[in-house]
Amino acid sequence: MNSNGIIIAIDGPAGAGKSSVAKLLSEKLGYRYIDTGAMYRSVALVALHQQVNLTDEGALGVIAKNFKFEFKNYLNQLQVWVNDEDVTSKIRTPEVTAASFYSANALSVRTALVELQRKMALESCQLFGGAILEGRDTGTIVYPQAQYKFFLNATVEKRAERRLKDMLKAGMAEKLDVIIQQIKARDEKDYQREYGGLKKTEDYILMDHTMLTVDESAHAIYQYILEHPR
Ligand code: C5P
Repeated sequence: MNSNGIIIAIDGPAGAGKSSVAKLLSEKLGYRYIDTGAMYRSVALVALHQQVNLTDEGALGVIAKNFKFEFKNYLNQLQVWVNDEDVTSKIRTPEVTAASFYSANALSVRTALVELQRKMALESCQLFGGAILEGRDTGTIVYPQAQYKFFLNATVEKRAERRLKDMLKAGMAEKLDVIIQQIKARDEKDYQREYGGLKKTEDYILMDHTMLTVDESAHAIYQYILEHPR
């Protein structure tokens, strides 16, 4: 471990299981888990509340620069707080998911959030010896010098199945082939985003999560880290 602590970046497409794996890994290692997608979603939520035009990049940037954003751990659940309000479930609605494409495409938002993500990661390093950043660009833009970069992937069909399961649990219904189309559309946007797009550079360790459970994936990453001290 270097004097700044261990940074673990977990990137990959939507629905690959990154959040669940990152959360479990953070419990195993005791490092803070930084869900960067939740931050883009939170900017979108505030923009919707304030009825800001989603194509107004300047206005979205002002939100990202000025909002108070916190992750809190409550009974082992990661909560997302914005401006002293618990928004953990509010940021997961389909409306916010759609709006978050705009916040994620705005360079002003990305600049502000990347700065905040680096600050949170450093704080976690100082407090706990490391940090787990999860998203799309955490190993390319936020922390290119991260000691470990994992690219978590799974087939579109498997990702859609998992998404459907989560939706049914949350009382929402959808057809599997509709979700498959939605995931394909999100992939296209993620890979083609002008700034901070999803990019698997050669220094990523590729993890295929298609046939593995969350426990198995988290264990595989944990094992890799133990066997490759940096
Ligand atoms: O992963 P999640 O679905 O929560 O991400 C919400 C939105 O933020 C998505 O549109 C995703 O592409 C975007 N995002 C991003 N960069 C990140 C994390 C998420 O552009 N590092």
